[in-house]
Amino acid sequence: MSRHRHCTDNDPPCDATRDAPLRDRRGARQPERFDPTRAALLDDRERFDYLPPERVIAVLDPPRDGLVVDFGAGTGTYALEIARARPDLTVVALDEQPEMLERLRGKPEASLPNLEAALPDRLAALAGRADRVLALNVLHELGDEAIRELASLLSPQGFVVVIDWDAETERPVGPPRAHVYNTDEATKRLESVGLRIERLAPMRYHFVLRARR
Ligand SMILES: C[S@@+](CC[C@H](N)C(=O)[O-])C[C@H]1O[C@@H](n2cnc3c(N)ncnc32)[C@H](O)[C@@H]1O
Repeated sequence: MSRHRHCTDNDPPCDATRDAPLRDRRGARQPERFDPTRAALLDDRERFDYLPPERVIAVLDPPRDGLVVDFGAGTGTYALEIARARPDLTVVALDEQPEMLERLRGKPEASLPNLEAALPDRLAALAGRADRVLALNVLHELGDEAIRELASLLSPQGFVVVIDWDAETERPVGPPRAHVYNTDEATKRLESVGLRIERLAPMRYHFVLRARR
């Protein structure tokens, strides 16, 4: 699998060339948006070797009939797997880029009755309701405000599972190490919005954190 394209720190913000409204990314390690022209990389099933969906679902451990929000779902690769594996759940694939959600809607499996593609205008309606929030390969793109939004989705007993590229791990795929966090940095970032963090067993290239309000 080829490397994801990420803008360098010296590039002009990728946002400047897009039509969608700008969202504040202050605080993000990788403040530019994921480039939707690279979206096919997210559908590469080779990812499942080092990020197995069944492992993601096991860590999420959603309660029966629960609500799961995949925050920064991209093309919905993992939201689809979760919705398919657990028809009892309602899975919301939330992304700020309409192009990513269009790609999700174009997949044959996207008609699953328990899967919804949503833009951030759904955040207010979802606030306080999510039993589980998944943030997969997205923490390094989130500004302070977005992390607060993510936390606000949780129900009182809910938790967030944050899985992201580990800056300390050598790897042949993914963004440059300077564009992502190590486990300590990610923990501090999440604690800064009042979340309590537990470290779970890492995956091949990723740290795994469980975060509660
Ligand atoms: C690297 S992609 C990962 C997609 C998906 N989680 C996966 O692993 O296949 C990150 C996605 O997060 C989305 N994103 C970044 N910041 C966001 C925010 N504040 N709210 C919603 N989506 C966001 C981007 O548009 C992009 O589609």
